[in-house]
Amino acid sequence: MENLVEAIKQLKKEKNALIMGHYYQRAEIQDVADYIGDSLALAQQAARTEADVIVMCGVHFMGETAKVLCPEKKVLVPDMQAGCSLADSCPADAFGQFIKEHPGYTVLSYVNTTAAVKALTDVVVTSSNARQIVESFPREEKIIFGPDRNLGSYINAVTGRNMLLWNGACHVHEQFSVEKIAALKEQHPEALVLAHPECKQAVLAQADVVGSTAALLKYAIAHPEKTYIVATESGILHEMRKRCPQTNFIPAPPSTGAHACNECNYMRLNTLEKLYQCLKDETPEITVDPAIAAKAVKPIQRMLEISAKLAL
Ligand code: 13P
Ligand code: SF4
Repeated sequence: MENLVEAIKQLKKEKNALIMGHYYQRAEIQDVADYIGDSLALAQQAARTEADVIVMCGVHFMGETAKVLCPEKKVLVPDMQAGCSLADSCPADAFGQFIKEHPGYTVLSYVNTTAAVKALTDVVVTSSNARQIVESFPREEKIIFGPDRNLGSYINAVTGRNMLLWNGACHVHEQFSVEKIAALKEQHPEALVLAHPECKQAVLAQADVVGSTAALLKYAIAHPEKTYIVATESGILHEMRKRCPQTNFIPAPPSTGAHACNECNYMRLNTLEKLYQCLKDETPEITVDPAIAAKAVKPIQRMLEISAKLAL
């Protein structure tokens, strides 16, 4: 493994490449990445990098977002099969039809969507900025929010809005077990529950802190004396434990089921070997239809501009 890490570092230098990794990546990928972050931070970093090649260790829509922002750069992903159940729950043609049926609505889409869905969108949001972006619109604004029904319901609840929601969800965040979290809280009465807003309402109701992966990490760093039950993809525990070595982080368990797991099977497709191979061969490469990219870039840029103004 050490050799592989050295070989990756060497190739990276030769090719002026930037390796970006989401917090849900395998630990060894997070450790070799130049930059790790949540979806918002990865988009912000892609927009400002001077590297010639971006290797996006995350899932396909993250690579697409980087490519849309940097069409002149080569954007590589270690595994082209690294998709996203949430993005899959919102096909562009069906979403386009939904928008047509509701004229006069402003369309906000979560970044976990294809470039084709972003091309139908007015402003892209991530879990780090969704609340603030919604609140930047007047109260009477009619808003369609897609595709995550859990994030949308959560924002409706905290802002008092009544956005029209697309009925999509992430299979990992939907699986956390309310009963098992309650049992863990009994065993660890001192523990606080950190939860991602992609979780179901019943899980969020048990949470002490609700936020994006970056927000949950930031909270834990600011309050390292606590014990935390963490209801999001368990990859984030790697950075949490690195940053707060004295803190007890307990991954929230999923409900029982044949495929129950708090790891995202798509995120985990990326391995160190595939990262090495992709840097060496410069493939698989993300491509986006230029006509779609020309439309998709606008709502992503709007998100980056609003986030910059709000210092997010
Ligand atoms: P954030 O990176 O915005 O926390 O979203 C989590 C996620 O599910 C990414 O796929
Ligand atoms: Fe998509 Fe969920 Fe995996 Fe994130 S954790 S990439 S939302 S399937």
